[in-house]
Amino acid sequence: MCKIIAIANQKGGVAKTTTAVHLAAALQMNGRKVLLCDFDPQADTSSYMGYSDDDNISINNIMQDYVVGKNTNVKDIIRTSDKNGGIDYIPSDISLATAEYYLSPIMSRETVLKRILEQVKSYYDYIIIDCQPSLGILVINALVASDGVVIPAQTQEFSKKALKAITDIVEQVQKGVNPNLNFLGILPTMVDNTSMTKDTQKVYEEEYGNLIFPNGISRSVTAAYSSRDRKALCFKNNSKIGAEYKAFAEEVERRIK
Ligand SMILES: Nc1ncnc2c1ncn2[C@@H]1O[C@H](COP(=O)(O)OP(=O)(O)O)[C@@H](O)[C@H]1O
Ligand SMILES: [Mg+2]
Repeated sequence: MCKIIAIANQKGGVAKTTTAVHLAAALQMNGRKVLLCDFDPQADTSSYMGYSDDDNISINNIMQDYVVGKNTNVKDIIRTSDKNGGIDYIPSDISLATAEYYLSPIMSRETVLKRILEQVKSYYDYIIIDCQPSLGILVINALVASDGVVIPAQTQEFSKKALKAITDIVEQVQKGVNPNLNFLGILPTMVDNTSMTKDTQKVYEEEYGNLIFPNGISRSVTAAYSSRDRKALCFKNNSKIGAEYKAFAEEVERRIK
């Protein structure tokens, strides 16, 4: 049965996109059929997957059509990234930034993505959603559509407050619209040997215990090269980050069961 996992944090630059892409890649390498859904108007996941927006059709068109009762099937806009092990993906673009406006007056506005993804769920083992950095209606849509959520959190910066805001939202969604949402955990990213990392990680562990993924992801410039090359590091031999994300993906599979 398909599991949908959101990668969320209202902070930008915490490695949401890097995590979404590498989780999808690692699962795909494990023989799972994966759909990566770009749900950020910045569309970084789409460019990572090699998308060029020549034809300008994105998740936003599907959402907008859905809202006016026109049933355009999301299947029609799914692309495949050959450079990334044949991962399927749903592209996004900047027009998704208008969603706040057209969603606000409609009924059940927080369940639109859920209903759209239901059209393609049966084809996949996993759907990974890369969220935008906000706590707005698009992120709520992602959490309502999901079976699990992972929160990547940078350890360089003391962002306990930010973590509380997003974990509160997760709790509200669990209590309200989606009791099936499983908080899979917090993934420490850009981990290095500084005392800042160690102190922050300690604070996270005291606060969240087992919810912190055990090994985290090291800081490495290869992450930036990988987005430039439009290819996840899981597909490269001897990549430390690639191996860390594979271990993380295995833990995600254990936790989502
Ligand atoms: N483990 C890492 N080590 C060093 N840089 C990283 C790492 N993971 C991501 N980055 C870089 O940090 C920046 C933000 O990452 P990104 O995944 O785009 O975050 P977000 O989606 O949360 O904004 C990007 O330039 C990315 O290449
Ligand atoms: Mg991003």
